[in-house]
Amino acid sequence: MNRLSLILERKIRDKKAKIGVIGLGYVGLPLVKAFLNKGFTVTGFDIDPRKIRMLKQGRSYLKHIAIDDVKSAFKARRFSATDDFKRLSRMDAIIICVPTPLDSHRNPDLSFVLHTAETVAATIRKGQLIVLESTTYPGTTDDEMRPILERNGLRAGHDFFLAFSPERENPGDPVFSTARIPKVVGGYSKDCLRVANALYSQVVVKTVPVSSTKVAESAKLLENIFRSVNIALVNEMKMILDRLGIDVWEVIRAASSKPFGFMPFYPGPGLGGHCIPIDPFYLTWKAREVEYSTKFIELAGEINTFMPSYVMAKTIEALGQRCRSIKGARVLVLGIAYKKDIDDQRESPSFKIISLLREKGAKVSYNDPHIPAPGPSREYPHLSLRSVPLTASRLKSMDAVVIATDHSAYDFDWIAKNSRLVVDARNAIKKRRSNVVKA
Ligand SMILES: NC(=O)c1ccc[n+]([C@@H]2O[C@H](COP(=O)([O-])OP(=O)(O)OC[C@H]3O[C@@H](n4cnc5c(N)ncnc54)[C@H](O)[C@@H]3O)[C@@H](O)[C@H]2O)c1
Repeated sequence: MNRLSLILERKIRDKKAKIGVIGLGYVGLPLVKAFLNKGFTVTGFDIDPRKIRMLKQGRSYLKHIAIDDVKSAFKARRFSATDDFKRLSRMDAIIICVPTPLDSHRNPDLSFVLHTAETVAATIRKGQLIVLESTTYPGTTDDEMRPILERNGLRAGHDFFLAFSPERENPGDPVFSTARIPKVVGGYSKDCLRVANALYSQVVVKTVPVSSTKVAESAKLLENIFRSVNIALVNEMKMILDRLGIDVWEVIRAASSKPFGFMPFYPGPGLGGHCIPIDPFYLTWKAREVEYSTKFIELAGEINTFMPSYVMAKTIEALGQRCRSIKGARVLVLGIAYKKDIDDQRESPSFKIISLLREKGAKVSYNDPHIPAPGPSREYPHLSLRSVPLTASRLKSMDAVVIATDHSAYDFDWIAKNSRLVVDARNAIKKRRSNVVKA
């Protein structure tokens, strides 16, 4: 057994290992909290000075993440936040949680991961553990990151330890916080796996060790592709059943009574967030290397990306039935966050819905209690938007109200009562009403 790994394992067991988390976003910040809560000393690294500044002031920049524990750890000198990456050399374990988006051709953009690997390589020392958590295609840790980290002569598995452990964060989930979610861990070597497993065993309810980093990378992709494909399936069911005059929501409720072999997924206005609309295409790209073209992923992507157009078409149709043209119609979109009760706008289908309705000549405004003014979105950088107050008189003045996100803060009964027409893409309004159309 490697002597360095034994030393690091002991440090981890004694909670003396210094933890560095690179990338303090939706994944990195909860991870910082999980390690602080278990008594570790943590340093958060980020290139965004605003985040560093806010953390130092004890303020959270992510609405659903309270940072009281970070504040008290900061006072007790167990937490610091910095953009000085030279301090990485002092860390015993470095966990990387930087973005893995797609580029403009929908190919994986690994620049954040590779840039971070370069930064870590600049100060890497013997005995460190480096873990990648960012979702990516199989081979990234061993074949792309490792050569960079070994550039200065240190060897993975001998001088330092290398692992991949995918994040399973579910933002806004009140039950499954980081510490309560089992964590898959794969190492470059047996020693790498042992050290990484020892680290995560300290902070999560259960670890799931696997035989390689590639298995761990693929497991995360399978989880997300599984969601994307199943959401596409119910979205297709929704469109078929709507034509047949059958309520898809009631059908899903009925099918869910089967105690085995069925798991409910729900239709919606389209996919959003950093993961499900993006990650499957990491595998599509990798599959090309072995001359395979992914079919389920492409088909699911096609159906899911069509959903905002479907919502638009249902809005136009419902307005038409009320002798109202979309041209000049006043439409209020409720919710710009991609899912309920969070302030994350990334890849939100609401942007597409707003943009499509505007293209058709509608006057579109939006309300979101969690996002007063969204930052520029990747695909719609020029949509200038600001949340309008939600009042009965505003609802009454609208030709249509589109429910794109079912935030708990909304009183849907009140919304339905005060609106002429509601296009409901979330089954938020349960009672049958003549002014409510499911989309
Ligand atoms: N958000 C989720 O629910 C979720 C769930 C599971 C997995 N993931 C994966 O985790 C990874 C991170 O996602 P996220 O949602 O936390 O992203 P995020 O954008 O919220 O956070 C990423 C952070 O990394 C910082 N950053 C970017 N480049 C950096 C660099 N070179 N050095 C240091 N910091 C840098 C950014 O400033 C930002 O604060 C992605 O691969 C994503 O697919 C996300």
